[in-house]
Amino acid sequence: MDLRAWDYAQFKSAFFLKTGLDLDRYKDRQMERRIRQLMERRNKPDFRHFYEYLVKNPPEMQFFLSYLTINTSEFFRDQVVFATLKKEIFPELLKKYGNGLKIWSAGCSIGAEPYTLAIILDTLKALYRAQIIGTDIDKKALQEAKKGIYSGKYLDKMPQDLIQRYFFKEGEVYRIKPEIQSSIIFKHHNLLRDSPLYGCHLILCRNVFIYFKPETQDFFLQRFAAALKAGGYLVIGSAEYISNPQKYMLKKRFNTIYQKIIE
Ligand SMILES: C[S@@+](CC[C@H](N)C(=O)[O-])C[C@H]1O[C@@H](n2cnc3c(N)ncnc32)[C@H](O)[C@@H]1O
Repeated sequence: MDLRAWDYAQFKSAFFLKTGLDLDRYKDRQMERRIRQLMERRNKPDFRHFYEYLVKNPPEMQFFLSYLTINTSEFFRDQVVFATLKKEIFPELLKKYGNGLKIWSAGCSIGAEPYTLAIILDTLKALYRAQIIGTDIDKKALQEAKKGIYSGKYLDKMPQDLIQRYFFKEGEVYRIKPEIQSSIIFKHHNLLRDSPLYGCHLILCRNVFIYFKPETQDFFLQRFAAALKAGGYLVIGSAEYISNPQKYMLKKRFNTIYQKIIE
């Protein structure tokens, strides 16, 4: 078959029609470079051949979708942030709102982030007072999250006493204890397309913005602001920044922790 070569823009349109994932919202240079690397490994000379190949090979399409979404994560990633949540944010939210805190880890990857929140709440004896929802676009990462089994490298930043308290060591891997595992609801969710989870007291969306263009970051921030209750908090990644928080009714409270202004 004679397939005329496509450029990246043509690939993005065809891919969006096929999968509903809008690559145009991600930073182009970074994304295109990543896709080209995989094309080279699969010996596909241009975007059109690569697209046809993906469409004809569902397992490869599944692999590609996972490959696109970079899943790097670990327990207690950025200790200062989690220490602030433990010392300042959770006590304040628990005092102000009582039971039924709604917490959303958006772009939760393999689950290390929502599990870290559950562990912290458990050490505060308040896990039963919160509902934690972890969402991600990557179904493979969500499967890993639900399993709750991790190799040691994911726990490097976690204090030893907490590892012993919240994991079973099984040979080379660590299995999270059932009371923590069952405390999280994991759901498939595309931040670009699906409605946000409304009525949240705390939203973490960390190390997700960096992959998207500024206008998409703006779109996410508007949605998170709408999803937060007044007085609720939004936590972003340590390398991320909101240049005009007031546009979203947010106020910076700690380094990467913003509070929705109470009207
Ligand atoms: C680098 S990981 C961050 C994981 C975790 N938040 C942390 O900071 O450790 C980025 C996650 O964003 C997810 N992601 C990318 N695009 C997304 C989208 N459109 N909707 C939902 N999640 C998305 C990826 O699948 C990936 O798991």
